[in-house]
Amino acid sequence: MAASTRPGRGTNLALLVLLAGSFLTGWVAFGVGVAPGSRLVAVAHGTLGLGILLLAPWKSVIVGRGLRRRRRHGVAVALVLVLAASLLAGVVHSVFGPLCVGAVSALALHVAFAVVVVPLALGHVVRRPQRVRGSDLSRRTALRAMTFGGTALLAYAALSSVTSAAGLPGARRRETGSYEVGSGDPTTVPVTQWFTDGVPDIDPAAFVLRIERPDQPGQQLSYDALLTAAVTTRAAVIDCTGGWWSEQTWRGVRLDTVLGPLGPLDHGSIVVRSLTGYTRRFPAEEASALMLATHMGGVPLSPGHGGPVRLVAPGRRGFWWVKWVSDVSVDARPWWTQPPFPLQ
Ligand code: HEM
Ligand code: HEM
Repeated sequence: MAASTRPGRGTNLALLVLLAGSFLTGWVAFGVGVAPGSRLVAVAHGTLGLGILLLAPWKSVIVGRGLRRRRRHGVAVALVLVLAASLLAGVVHSVFGPLCVGAVSALALHVAFAVVVVPLALGHVVRRPQRVRGSDLSRRTALRAMTFGGTALLAYAALSSVTSAAGLPGARRRETGSYEVGSGDPTTVPVTQWFTDGVPDIDPAAFVLRIERPDQPGQQLSYDALLTAAVTTRAAVIDCTGGWWSEQTWRGVRLDTVLGPLGPLDHGSIVVRSLTGYTRRFPAEEASALMLATHMGGVPLSPGHGGPVRLVAPGRRGFWWVKWVSDVSVDARPWWTQPPFPLQ
């Protein structure tokens, strides 16, 4: 895929494909919580990202040539720096564990730099366009792409093997790339929420949970009513896109117990809303798998962990586990009509 004789168009177009692929698979990795899907996405993401590094020798020839021309280089140089920072933070997280710079994790830095890469890469491609030719879709290009893809996969496998052989923290990460924290010990579970959200001040005594169904009068449940309802206990792993996971025993009420049977609304969805306005929509048929939890590890949920009531959504990434649940409603809109990640 890299130019065989003179590095140029082929290398740049390959970089474009790798950048777009890394960015997309990064978000897919954030969305998938269950193996084998999560493992496949993480391998694809790492392979595409390391592919960019493999092309560095070819790209550096292009860069040398480009820098010798008399013109503005600001965007291109910023792209090198921000992309290098993102790649470094990604590899540091995956190999050396959940390190932090101040209060910010390497994974958060990785994603933040990757988001900044997008406008810089677009600006660079607009300033230094490369024509796509019909012959780019040839058998020869496909074979080169496969050879290059195989090499990148080997690089990923080599990095994983070295990480395991050296006993580095990365060998202990879950298939999503997250590291275990505080399983069975609620006091050490990190307090994290979606970056737009914050811990509200709630008095459990004044708390009410509103339940709305289109076919029934609305109900209100107090915190005490939830504590004495048909309570169940289950173990489930919360796997946060912040890069940590924790297995806990959750106590609470199943959502289908609170809502009742949802027969005719099979294609509709359940909307779970937080007191802060944060909202996620779930397929109606998932009601029996979801739980409104009041306790984690046998103790009432702290405000930071979503108390008095939070959603437990096994198999889904942490941003689905709505905290401080104040409203649960059912409507006919399909769950997939919402943005894949919370916007508010
Ligand atoms: C310019 C775009 C991006 C590039 C080039 C890139 C590249 C990388 C690389 C090289 C790694 C280390 C893989 C390994 O050694 O196993 C990594 C890890 C990771 N990246 Fe990205 N990434 C990009 C964007 C994103 C975005 C936008 C997200 C999320 C929204 C993301 C999420 C992750 C996660 C969760 C890991 C850890 C995976 C694991 O440990 O197996 N990345 N990335
Ligand atoms: C991995 C991401 C990339 C980085 C870090 C990067 C960086 C650079 C740098 C530092 C230069 C030299 C400075 C300059 O010309 O102002 C350059 C030149 C160039 N880049 Fe990129 N680039 C990347 C991806 C791309 C992509 C995706 C394309 C187009 C599809 C592209 C097309 C070009 C072209 C045409 C030149 C000028 C070469 C010349 O004048 O001979 N680059 N790049």
